[in-house]
Amino acid sequence: MMSPLFSFWKKVFLFILFEAIEAQNFSDGNSVDPDLLLDLEQFLQKHGYPVEPHEIMTDDGYLVTIFRIPHGQNGTGVNTKPILMMHGLTGTAYNFLFNEYFNKSIATYFADHGYDVWLGNTRGNTYGRKHVKLDPNKSKFWKFSWHEIGLHDLPSIIDYILEITGRKNLYYIGHSQGGTIFYVLASLKPEYQKKFAQVSLMAPGGLMGHFNNSFFNGLAKNHRRLYRIAVNANFLELPPSWFNLTNFLTNLCIGTIMENTCKRIFITMYGEHSGEYDERIFPMLINTLTSSSVMQALHYAQNIDSGRFRQWDFGKKKNMEIYGQIEPPDYPVEKIEVPVAIYYSSSDIMAFPEDEEEMCRRLKNCIKYKMANPNWNHFNFLLSKNPIQDLYKPLMEYMETFEIS
Ligand SMILES: *[C@@H]1O[C@H](CO)[C@@H](O)[C@H](O)[C@H]1NC(C)=O
Ligand SMILES: *[C@@H]1O[C@H](CO)[C@@H](O)[C@H](O)[C@H]1NC(C)=O
Ligand SMILES: *[C@@H]1O[C@H](CO)[C@@H](O)[C@H](O)[C@H]1NC(C)=O
Ligand SMILES: *[C@@H]1O[C@H](CO)[C@@H](O)[C@H](O)[C@H]1NC(C)=O
Ligand SMILES: *[C@@H]1O[C@H](CO)[C@@H](O)[C@H](O)[C@H]1NC(C)=O
Ligand SMILES: *[C@@H]1O[C@H](CO)[C@@H](O)[C@H](O)[C@H]1NC(C)=O
Repeated sequence: MMSPLFSFWKKVFLFILFEAIEAQNFSDGNSVDPDLLLDLEQFLQKHGYPVEPHEIMTDDGYLVTIFRIPHGQNGTGVNTKPILMMHGLTGTAYNFLFNEYFNKSIATYFADHGYDVWLGNTRGNTYGRKHVKLDPNKSKFWKFSWHEIGLHDLPSIIDYILEITGRKNLYYIGHSQGGTIFYVLASLKPEYQKKFAQVSLMAPGGLMGHFNNSFFNGLAKNHRRLYRIAVNANFLELPPSWFNLTNFLTNLCIGTIMENTCKRIFITMYGEHSGEYDERIFPMLINTLTSSSVMQALHYAQNIDSGRFRQWDFGKKKNMEIYGQIEPPDYPVEKIEVPVAIYYSSSDIMAFPEDEEEMCRRLKNCIKYKMANPNWNHFNFLLSKNPIQDLYKPLMEYMETFEIS
């Protein structure tokens, strides 16, 4: 067990190390295409798309900005079919635009095909670092996991969109945690199910019993200790606010002699296969990194450790007080009747095929779609070389067998 004092000195040590690296100039003189560093609105405008920011207040006071692309490149007015896209852990709305660098992002593809596209964000990320009362620089702001995102952010966003569009329901696409929060909301607040016309989940996080990455499994086994350390050190934001990860990695990795090594490490983190990923995008990935809560990561760690998809584990005593039982309750996903399609892939080391298939069996109305390319990993749903044929087209075709009202 590490003492708070130790973590304090560790923090000081890491800080000095990072500062030292930041002070180095590793530049190899190659410059970065400025298009890779545009912010979300500039990037869309440059590619000929309209974009509107909308600030939403969740029912518990978080302020989150979401982005609407009301029509496509050559359209006018507002498209008729609302669709909400929700990103994964450590992601933002920008995730659905990565491929726009190659003029083929999922967001603009849908905007060009008659959809009113809404790109959501979650509390804590670049566009959700705000609260009516809580200070994002204090750890109280960060006391949430994806459970709270599913119960508060997602319904607030959906109600806002339905209000503005005058619709009764919408289409939904979720990547990774974007799937988890759908499961949370639809299972615990089943009255929300009628607000989804159809749901497409790409590598959704839920059951994680087959997770077998030795590094993450090692962390998962220690989830209780890691949580205690984080609370004692008063650090629940990941990475901590005193550490600017984008700045750090930009200095270390972009246009430097370290670039190839960085790219390799990055790819290894997501899976061994990299054939489907175009490395030119790398500076954009670094530039759009964002924060999440330590509890979001540790809630996944608990699910890996228990092999179940269930609520936050407070420890036996507090579980008894809060849930009336020793173990946290499972999310009752068998209550989910909304038509769901799960897209998943063989080389995904975050969302294992066996877990995806088992989840699909538990839902009332689910079809599964395994990506044909055996090299696809968790990340290729956002970044791949042939996404229109491989993903967007089949996904949209199936979606359109369900009508909105
Ligand atoms: C870093 O080095 C490159 C080329 O070696 C140079 O062009 C650049 O100005 C340097 N940057 C800083 C901040 O010193
Ligand atoms: C918009 O119109 C231009 C010019 O006709 C065309 O080149 C382009 O492909 C169109 N874009 C879309 C998404 O249809
Ligand atoms: C994307 O489209 C723009 C014009 O809208 C063009 O200048 C650019 O070269 C295209 N990028 C790619 C990678 O095809
Ligand atoms: C949080 O800290 C950063 C710098 O560390 C500062 O720029 C920002 O204004 C602070 N935010 C609030 C709400 O106090
Ligand atoms: C993890 O699972 C994958 C796919 O099921 C398998 O190919 C791999 O050998 C496993 N790795 C370990 C360390 O068990
Ligand atoms: C982190 O550094 C980048 C520049 O590398 C800057 O644009 C960004 O605003 C910084 N983020 C924070 C939270 O200070």
